[in-house]
Amino acid sequence: MRNLIIIDHPLVKRDLTLLRDRRTPSNLFRAILRRMASLMAYSVTADLRVQQISVTTPLERTRGYTVTDSIILVPILRAGLGLVGGFVEVLPDARVGHIGLYRDEETLTPVDYYLKLPERLNKALVILLDPMLATGGSAAAAVTFLKKKGARKILFVSLVAAPEGVRTLSKAHPDVKIYTCALDRQLNSRGYILPGLGDAGDRMFGTAE
Ligand code: PRP
Ligand code: URA
Repeated sequence: MRNLIIIDHPLVKRDLTLLRDRRTPSNLFRAILRRMASLMAYSVTADLRVQQISVTTPLERTRGYTVTDSIILVPILRAGLGLVGGFVEVLPDARVGHIGLYRDEETLTPVDYYLKLPERLNKALVILLDPMLATGGSAAAAVTFLKKKGARKILFVSLVAAPEGVRTLSKAHPDVKIYTCALDRQLNSRGYILPGLGDAGDRMFGTAE
């Protein structure tokens, strides 16, 4: 799993534990996810390119820096939306595209229903956001869409990953680095991550029966 980077900051671990807890209600789930996304964004953006500029303080001129990478965030709908706010907070100039995918409950294969991406994808660092990397089918399909539209530098960011998903995504797209906060044990027979945190979209939007 050469491409896998685990973000194991103590505050990220604390927040992930709160998200895993079945008692955490949707309003708290959303707030914690947003906070966690900002923490994750620090790790994910550690290699951004900067350019030296000069800045004038109230006292004198000194050296400063500006980020030169153009960044495009792409959440996979629905659950990826929960990560956008936290990333945008620390990347205010980022543009945002959207990919709509859901997993067919029987076959577990991704079904696409929406695609809207900013221009000049080929010049940007594209950060694909989805809390769950389960079978890896959705992530691999989303990366394929992005590459077809010209993306060349893509990172995938998730909260929880299953070994099966990491393998599938790495095999399909070995050039894509995978960031996650936890590599969980396995998938169950319905394709849910164990121990996981349940259905991320349902928990976030309160749509579980
Ligand atoms: C979840 C999750 C991923 C996908 C992961 O979305 O947000 O997109 O499942 O599973 P995979 O790795 O096996 O493809 P879901 O299909 O439940 O849609 P939703 O976000 O609209 O709830
Ligand atoms: N999608 C989720 O939301 N949770 C899982 O455990 C697997 C796929």
